Amino acid sequence: MSERLEDIAAAMVADGKGLLAADESSGTIKKRFDVIGVESTADSRRDYREMMFRAKEAMTRYISGVILYDETIRQKAADGTPLVDIIKATGAIPGIKVDAGAKPLAGYPGDTITEGLDGLRERLADYYKLGARFAKWRAVIDIDVAKGVPSATSIGSNAHALARYAALCQVAGIVPIVEPEVLMDGAHDIGTCYEISKATLTRLYTELYAARVVLEGTILKPNMVLAGKKSGKVSSPEEVAEKTIKLFRETVPAAIGGIAFLSGGQSDEEATANLNAINAIGPHPWKLTFSYGRALQAAPQKAWSGKAANVAAAQAAFAHRAHMNHLAALGKWQPELEQAA
Ligand code: 13P
Repeated sequence: MSERLEDIAAAMVADGKGLLAADESSGTIKKRFDVIGVESTADSRRDYREMMFRAKEAMTRYISGVILYDETIRQKAADGTPLVDIIKATGAIPGIKVDAGAKPLAGYPGDTITEGLDGLRERLADYYKLGARFAKWRAVIDIDVAKGVPSATSIGSNAHALARYAALCQVAGIVPIVEPEVLMDGAHDIGTCYEISKATLTRLYTELYAARVVLEGTILKPNMVLAGKKSGKVSSPEEVAEKTIKLFRETVPAAIGGIAFLSGGQSDEEATANLNAINAIGPHPWKLTFSYGRALQAAPQKAWSGKAANVAAAQAAFAHRAHMNHLAALGKWQPELEQAA
């Protein structure tokens, strides 16, 4: 496969394919395992992820790439095969989360800044050798308007860090996924999500231009425009699609390699229905697909529940969700297809 950044980016959003975000930090995967009553150890994390990477139907047909965590990119399957080789054998591209997490932003209570730039150049060179051809950096923008969150300082600092990260990735031959996640956890309405997302994306692309990042060799991983979870409102797929596309047309250059959404706490079916509605009102200047963590993994996690005997059922659950999102990435999903499973 081509090593040009723009070719890698294009492969990541190839027709109907999307990304599996399996890059939960050790803390986050422990939270997910707590829910299914599985102890989080290096071996249980390996077994769980090996189950997904060996899900042949899902991986070969619907998944273009997998975002890994540092531990996972170095791990070997139970039979000694590196997990990276199992992913590559399915035709999917290995990727790596490289940020060190969101920390409180000094002087701005309620805001965070994502850390991890120090030493990043060397870590990227190491990850390239381990097989990674794309990376991910997640900035977190919370919304609490009454408290002045997010501040302009938070949006600016996070956009600047994303741009420095993206430039370093490209020097290393790695496609940067730039992820400025505006959280859906708050009590805000959909209009506020739109406004904050607009300020965030506007600043992000200003910083990416200033850092001389080659946009064709980048993937944007954004939130959809939605009402906050604590607002008590669920935005319809049609409204989500209309506002999300309006936002992107105003702020996201047509030159970028593509767009792969995060699921951000939407239910599995909501994340699929919204992606489908977005693609159904196309054509658009960019490919729009999925880079889901929770919305792809919740069902297989539950089906697996830490038991080897459940591997086939878990792989089938993963294949179903991946298939539904594949159809949504093409604007061809129908709610009735969920019942069939
Ligand atoms: P969710 O789809 O669970 O939001 O995770 C995607 C991701 O990679 C967040 O950084």
